[in-house]
Amino acid sequence: MCGIIGAASSRSVGKILIKGLQLMEYRGYDSAGVVLNKDEEILRLRSLGKVSKLEEIMISEKPKAFSGIAHTRWATHGAPSEENAHPHGSHDDIYIVHNGIIENHEEIRCSLRNKGYEIASETDSELIAHLVHFYKKESQDTLQALMKATTELNGAYSIAVVCKEEKGKVYAARQKSPLLVGLGIEENFVASDPLAIVNITEKFHMLEDGDFAVITKEDVVIYDQEGIIVEREELKIDGAATATTKGEYKHFMEKEIYEQPDCIGNTINGRLGESDVLDNVFGLGSSNSFKDVKRVQFVACGTSLHAAKTARKWFEDICEIPCYIDFASEYRYRNPIVEDNTLFVTISQSGETADTLAALNYAKEEKYLGIVSICNVPTSTMARESDWKIFTNAGPEIGVASTKAFTTQLAALLILALSISKSQDKNQEKRKQAAQDLRETPALIREAFKLKDEINTITNNISSNDNALFLGRGMYFSIAQEGALKLKEISYIHAEAYPAGELKHGPLALVDETIPVVALAPEDSLVEKLLSNLEEVKARGGTLYVFGNAGSTIEIKKGKFINMPKCGDYNAPIVYTIPLQILAYEVACLRGTDLDQPRNLAKSVTVE
Ligand code: AGP
Repeated sequence: MCGIIGAASSRSVGKILIKGLQLMEYRGYDSAGVVLNKDEEILRLRSLGKVSKLEEIMISEKPKAFSGIAHTRWATHGAPSEENAHPHGSHDDIYIVHNGIIENHEEIRCSLRNKGYEIASETDSELIAHLVHFYKKESQDTLQALMKATTELNGAYSIAVVCKEEKGKVYAARQKSPLLVGLGIEENFVASDPLAIVNITEKFHMLEDGDFAVITKEDVVIYDQEGIIVEREELKIDGAATATTKGEYKHFMEKEIYEQPDCIGNTINGRLGESDVLDNVFGLGSSNSFKDVKRVQFVACGTSLHAAKTARKWFEDICEIPCYIDFASEYRYRNPIVEDNTLFVTISQSGETADTLAALNYAKEEKYLGIVSICNVPTSTMARESDWKIFTNAGPEIGVASTKAFTTQLAALLILALSISKSQDKNQEKRKQAAQDLRETPALIREAFKLKDEINTITNNISSNDNALFLGRGMYFSIAQEGALKLKEISYIHAEAYPAGELKHGPLALVDETIPVVALAPEDSLVEKLLSNLEEVKARGGTLYVFGNAGSTIEIKKGKFINMPKCGDYNAPIVYTIPLQILAYEVACLRGTDLDQPRNLAKSVTVE
């Protein structure tokens, strides 16, 4: 969601900025723009739609400039349009790009109008340019002006600023929205995402909330919120490990689906011993602290929330403790009652999701035993803000629809359940079984890939409908929810998941001869009950697509039974996810959608 890049270099920066925007395209956007601080003038180019369009305009202009800023915009305030696209300017002097939301924008707008400022766009972001311009008139100092301007902003922001008079210089500010500094040779950068510049440099400073930075080609100076120069830790981000090519695949999502056996291997490697989880895999002292955990509170969004819902049974079963699960966007608005010895756990692929981060910050003020993050991006804010963490090691996930993030989160959640159980010396046999099941997961996922041809025999029917129902029971209801989310976000088919037992309480009214009903029927203690629920669908002439195995066979007149590999109790939820990902992917291909960047969606949702 919105990508910022700024560069100050001894070479012309136009191409660097465009390439950076392209590498951040996966975050989701609807328009793009760039400002180049050329010798003789400021050149601003903006366009609606893809960065390639902006690139074409830029190539025709052949600009030469040694500093500049660029942005991909995901509309929040004001429709996607050229006028609303960033960079926004004030008096052809100050230009800014912004990621985040300024909550008090109405108040600032009024005050700026009263001061005589003309506001050209509908965005909250443009106001920042005018504020900086206003304060610069007072101090003649852009950094001071930016610092003053930010004191007026309520909300989240990462900002990059250029000033026409100050060639070769970029200013930046960060508050609750990701921004980092990249250190190059005779060039330096700011960016929302290391991916934007990882092809140029491996050296980064993560900015902290309240930080400001001034970059030139020779130097980077970072200031804290008091305006004092500070050193921030230098991080090395391996360019090869963050490679972002599709390779032989048509889409990133396809590549990410088929990477899952290796990714799960990377999640469990170094964390599982012969027959149990290793100690302190969530960080030094974690095993000792987990002795006291009496309950767990999960918060997350979207797919990551589905991972928590799926994993609840493991915590109840292996750790014998209760689990509470909340939408991150809801959690802090309901005055949650925190009982003693509750562990707070956030789950996030990006580690930058604004709602989850806000919930984490709220939790820090409550009497939780500690905060654990399960996260895929080691440099993320969430990872830094947590007491204990585990990285899912899935590698960069570029497709907006989460695939490998989800299955590796499940593996990491099982590892968390094992760690708590081991600390409390409970259910050793179950731990041993779970560890063995985890090890066998990559091979079972490879088996599940072999179902692709069979799955393709049902995709035509699903893609020609605008609705679909997904059913499961127990943990498989959450897997069904994840399957429905995958289908809806990339194929735009309205798909809903229900616990199969709920069918007769309402959704059965939707079942007719057309609507496809996808059901998950693993051989578990609930399978008999599930099969009875599926009879209710059959009796109404419904079309059933059932993923199950020998013990769950059901005679299907309309639809298809797809035989799954025989799984263990602890890896079946992970393995049953795979055919649903393939199904969603293949259906979206048939419908011809932009499935790596589906409409209206962003990869990293950095606004509330
Ligand atoms: C799922 O396919 C989506 N990408 C979305 O639901 C996502 O899981 C959600 O926005 C949370 O993101 P996070 O894991 O990065 O926090």
